[in-house]
Amino acid sequence: MDFERKSLIRAAMEARTFSYAPFSNFHVGAALLTKDGEVYTGCNIENSAYSPTLCAERCAIAKAVSEGKREFLAIAVVGPEDGHTTPCGVCRQVLYEFCDESLVILCGGTEENYMETTLGELLPKGFRL
Ligand code: THU
Repeated sequence: MDFERKSLIRAAMEARTFSYAPFSNFHVGAALLTKDGEVYTGCNIENSAYSPTLCAERCAIAKAVSEGKREFLAIAVVGPEDGHTTPCGVCRQVLYEFCDESLVILCGGTEENYMETTLGELLPKGFRL
């Protein structure tokens, strides 16, 4: 898949600066690339009641879908700089609603430290009605 990996990671890192994570202190940013070349970003938004917490990936998806975008090429997710943060199970299934197995997922990190995978690898046999 031909797109600029590092700039998508950079967009996720910028979004990570807006993370609201006073409970876990685990700051996450995401950047979702549409098939027409636009980027929608998101960050995790935690809540005192814990369960309403929104992951960065679902924040980005909600922003894109609510503006009429439903076709995606890739998503970058960045948590702590020294690790490879992978989407949680709920986010994998939400991505699967709009994407097939070929969606590229970049898990970081930083521009220099990320792992590339696909939705098919992270969610084999995802659920569809
Ligand atoms: N989190 C995300 O935003 N995305 C992930 O893929 C993993 C987890 C958030 C949720 C919560 O605010 C914090 O990270 C710790 O679980």
